[in-house]
Amino acid sequence: MTTEIKARENGPVLVEGTATYIDAAGQEQTTQGSMFALCRCGASANKPFCDGTHKQIGFEAEAIALTVTKE
Ligand code: FES
Repeated sequence: MTTEIKARENGPVLVEGTATYIDAAGQEQTTQGSMFALCRCGASANKPFCDGTHKQIGFEAEAIALTVTKE
């Protein structure tokens, strides 16, 4: 299995695929769709997901791309 992870310039970390996580209420959740965006600016009101706030606060960071392969 291969997972593509891309940190957008001045934006969130985009992950291709789905993930299961525990929300703030302790409930197990699964991401929807084929891609999700994780906040890396720290300002999202919907952590760990990006809610677009990085644009309002002028977040700056370089783009990064990596591939994770699990056998
Ligand atoms: S990266 Fe988008 S809200 Fe933080």
